[in-house]
Amino acid sequence: MRQPDVGPALRAGESVRGTTSPNPPVGCALYRPDGALIATGATSPAGGPHAEVNALRRAGSAARGAIAVVTLEPCNHTGRTGPCAEALAEAGVVEVIYLTEDPNPLAAGGADYLRSRGIEATFAPRRVKALDPWLSSVRHGRVSVTVKFAASIDGFTAAPDGTSQWITGPAAREHVHADRAARDAIVIGTGTAIADNPSLTARLPDGTLRRHQPRRVVVGTRDVPAGNLSRLGYERYGTPEEALEALWDTGARDVLVEGGASLAASFIELGVVDRVQAYLAPLLLGGGTGVLARALAPSLSAAPRYQLVDTATLGEDVLIEMEKECLQG
Ligand SMILES: NC(=O)c1ccc[n+]([C@@H]2O[C@H](COP(=O)([O-])OP(=O)(O)OC[C@H]3O[C@@H](n4cnc5c(N)ncnc54)[C@H](OP(=O)(O)O)[C@@H]3O)[C@@H](O)[C@H]2O)c1
Repeated sequence: MRQPDVGPALRAGESVRGTTSPNPPVGCALYRPDGALIATGATSPAGGPHAEVNALRRAGSAARGAIAVVTLEPCNHTGRTGPCAEALAEAGVVEVIYLTEDPNPLAAGGADYLRSRGIEATFAPRRVKALDPWLSSVRHGRVSVTVKFAASIDGFTAAPDGTSQWITGPAAREHVHADRAARDAIVIGTGTAIADNPSLTARLPDGTLRRHQPRRVVVGTRDVPAGNLSRLGYERYGTPEEALEALWDTGARDVLVEGGASLAASFIELGVVDRVQAYLAPLLLGGGTGVLARALAPSLSAAPRYQLVDTATLGEDVLIEMEKECLQG
């Protein structure tokens, strides 16, 4: 048959981001040998079935003879659920195409197991964006951190009089809300909590709440006046280190730091920021509040450098995404 479409598996994995940690958000699609899509599946919340098992259940007997596309190598590990490699073999799947290798030594080996059962297992490397944070967290044994900011093109998040709403336009703001809904937690400093009284919710353009809401976290020691955050509930930690440890221990793997300038600098100084998302507006300020509260290095050569991984135009604004290291592809 022609090479199966990887789109349905990628979209299935993307659809469950923020809901699966500490497990990865994986997608699976099953195809008939003539190329027709039979069923898709995505990882359930922790303790529930993995993507492959959900797809196999939907397919029922149609899975016999099928070709599976999975965004991550099927696991070979019995945890709270059985090994997915075995489930695929038992269901009669004849070929498995996986897009990323499992770096977790406990779960790896699924492809070898499939081959030992006479099933073709093909590694077709491809960047699976939904898996980036989980891969970082496995590699480093800590929560994966993305720092996000909205700034003028010359790097200011607020004008000299303190006005900062709104630097970017509706399309960029909607993107931020969709991104929040795909994270395990959002983190801000007490400075932002006090100045902005944010709700830190993930909302649709009409203001209603999205289906998945991330955990809300405030870092710092100052009192935060009762406001939106108090009404909705939030977690509180004294330092970034404490927040990272507590989030990891409670299953979070993918965390978005939304500022402000002091907290973002602190996370970068700790060396734990894997990804930066800069929403840049076609606006010149020339002064005001910088994206980061202080210099991170005395010279260009000592500054933390990131690799460009993606750019997107959002209305009048531009989103630039950079990663500390290239994890895939
Ligand atoms: N445009 C954007 O993208 C954007 C995003 C977010 C915020 N903002 C703006 O940024 C402003 C707030 O920024 P900010 O820099 O003043 O405040 P902030 O970064 O939100 O919070 C600073 C506080 O975080 C805690 N903190 C930071 N690093 C720490 C460390 N290493 N150890 C322990 N605690 C640490 C401290 O809390 P304690 O002092 O309480 O101990 C510190 O005072 C607001 O005006 C907001 O509107 C803009």
